Amino acid sequence: MFHFYTALSRWICLALLFEGRKRGSEAFVHPFKSQQHQSDIRIGEQQYFGRESRLFVVSDLESNGDDITGNATDTILSRRQSEGFSISSPGEATQRLGASAGPTVWTEFGRIAQEYDPVNLGQGFPDWLPPKFAVDSLVEAVLDSAQSPHQYTRPAGHPNLVNQLARRYSIHLKKDIDPMEEVAVTVGASQALYLSLQTLVQPGDEVILFEPFFDLYVNQVKLAGGTPVYVPLKFHPYDDNDDTVSGGEWKLDRDELMKVVSPKTKAIILNSPHNPTGKIFSRSEMEVIAESLDLAGPECVVLSDEVYKFIIHAPPKEINAGDSPLCPGHTHFASLPGMWDRTITISSAGKTFSATGWQVGW
Ligand SMILES: Cc1ncc(COP(=O)(O)O)c(C=O)c1O
Repeated sequence: MFHFYTALSRWICLALLFEGRKRGSEAFVHPFKSQQHQSDIRIGEQQYFGRESRLFVVSDLESNGDDITGNATDTILSRRQSEGFSISSPGEATQRLGASAGPTVWTEFGRIAQEYDPVNLGQGFPDWLPPKFAVDSLVEAVLDSAQSPHQYTRPAGHPNLVNQLARRYSIHLKKDIDPMEEVAVTVGASQALYLSLQTLVQPGDEVILFEPFFDLYVNQVKLAGGTPVYVPLKFHPYDDNDDTVSGGEWKLDRDELMKVVSPKTKAIILNSPHNPTGKIFSRSEMEVIAESLDLAGPECVVLSDEVYKFIIHAPPKEINAGDSPLCPGHTHFASLPGMWDRTITISSAGKTFSATGWQVGW
């Protein structure tokens, strides 16, 4: 069922983004499964390895519909531990997680929320349907047997989807983007982050995270063997005498960033608009990040997580210089001078279409 829904989810997006009508289908890569396939897992007295360990992981995820990337390990471990099993020889990736291999806010609060039905502040997703055009497109795509939507396709993404993404992002970034070489489709933004970190980071490398940060990042950095290095965003309360205005702004402090960037820095994770504060990084803050890359050495890249780019609550009335032409108020880090080659831009359909379960990312 999991495979079915994943393939289905890709097609939802294809349906939304179709321009051309070419034959084909969509495959997906499951990094966690293939990783487990290589390693042995010992649970209590039972040892699972090779094919069996793979089956164990798959069935665990399938039956519970869990998040498959950063949280898969802790989901499985915490469930087994709560069932009284102990892991006597965790794999290398599990060991890298160390004490944080326990339940996360996603796994724990999600479970409790299902049980007690409270207002869940641990994890947010829309409790309304995606827009009608999206649901209608989904139904149409699923039933369109001529498009063969239920079968494998090009591993880096269905040609129609990558073409459409390249077309959109060529406008966003004011640059011609090659759909076959510069775009890859993933299982949500989560897998795009996971694969980027796995590809870039080696043990001993440092990855900079701006605090507070979306909780997925830290374990994904550790799984890749990297060391998270934290740069706190500073909260500046509004300083005025108007009783009707409250709150403040989170700001990036240049010195805090510059003092930790070094040749060991392999990646900086930027998330704007930002979860959890709602902060939108200003262009001058992004310029500071770009400048910091000079201290980091030529291989350091910025992973720019832009899943909320269409959710800007007070967008400017007019597009400012540097804003994306398609989302006022949002600056793509990759559009800064010289930053195209230093950026992996990550996004997904979930937030934009109020459909977080579809897990279509790029
Ligand atoms: C900042 C941020 N990035 C990435 C994701 C994950 O996106 P996806 O559901 O497409 O994997 C989330 C989900 O909440 C998020 O808040």
